Amino acid sequence: MKQTLLVINASARSTRSLSRRLTQRFTDAWLSRLPNSKIIHRDLAASPPPHVTEDWIAAVFTAPEERTDEMKRILAWSDEAIAQLDAAGIIVIGVPMYNYGMPSSLKAWFDQVIRVGKTFTFDLARGDYPLEPIMSGKKLVVLSSRGEFGFGPGGIREKVNHLDPHIATCAHYIGVSSDDIQTISIEYQEFGDERHRQSCEDAESQIDDLVFDLTCSSQHLR
Ligand SMILES: Cc1cc2nc3c(=O)[nH]c(=O)nc-3n(C[C@H](O)[C@H](O)[C@H](O)COP(=O)(O)O)c2cc1C
Repeated sequence: MKQTLLVINASARSTRSLSRRLTQRFTDAWLSRLPNSKIIHRDLAASPPPHVTEDWIAAVFTAPEERTDEMKRILAWSDEAIAQLDAAGIIVIGVPMYNYGMPSSLKAWFDQVIRVGKTFTFDLARGDYPLEPIMSGKKLVVLSSRGEFGFGPGGIREKVNHLDPHIATCAHYIGVSSDDIQTISIEYQEFGDERHRQSCEDAESQIDDLVFDLTCSSQHLR
């Protein structure tokens, strides 16, 4: 596993963001154990990904050697984001829940990096599962904050949690298998009560444990 981290933040909030606080704790803990690691930062609020357009789709489905300069320009953001992804062994995503799913900025990032011929192949001749990822062996850490509560397994809002299942489905196409996804969440943000305080404390302690485990396993590999 490569010791390069790609840290993505999707909260529209800056200093008040809880998900950003979690990604910061993760990277601080990581660097205190493996100071020579490379960290690539991608702030989707400060620099939102472009939306997919008709011209973008046309460029993607044009053979690379036939692309015009304009097509290359249209794909430049995607090319750079895919290169960052390719370089990383661990992807850390700080993500708020917005309207029971991911913020549109993060969805736009997935739309830019899940790209035919770059991150997945598409073989219609195969009847069963024609989309196959090209990348493999990456780990994903999802650090999230939610205003309400009960989004975990068996919780009262599990069925309206469209954030975690959507990210897990997309993760397959960027080289992360379902066993390699760790999710740590803060809940109760809108209540601001003792349950929220406890949830923050639990999330921070889970992050410390996770960083310990991940850095132990990655120290033996390059
Ligand atoms: C536009 C918007 C939509 C939100 N939708 C939900 C929601 O559907 N469910 C929920 O539990 N919290 C929701 N929240 C609350 C956020 O998830 C919560 O404030 C979280 O802490 C935001 O992450 P951040 O602190 O990193 O900015 C929403 C907040 C905003 C701003």
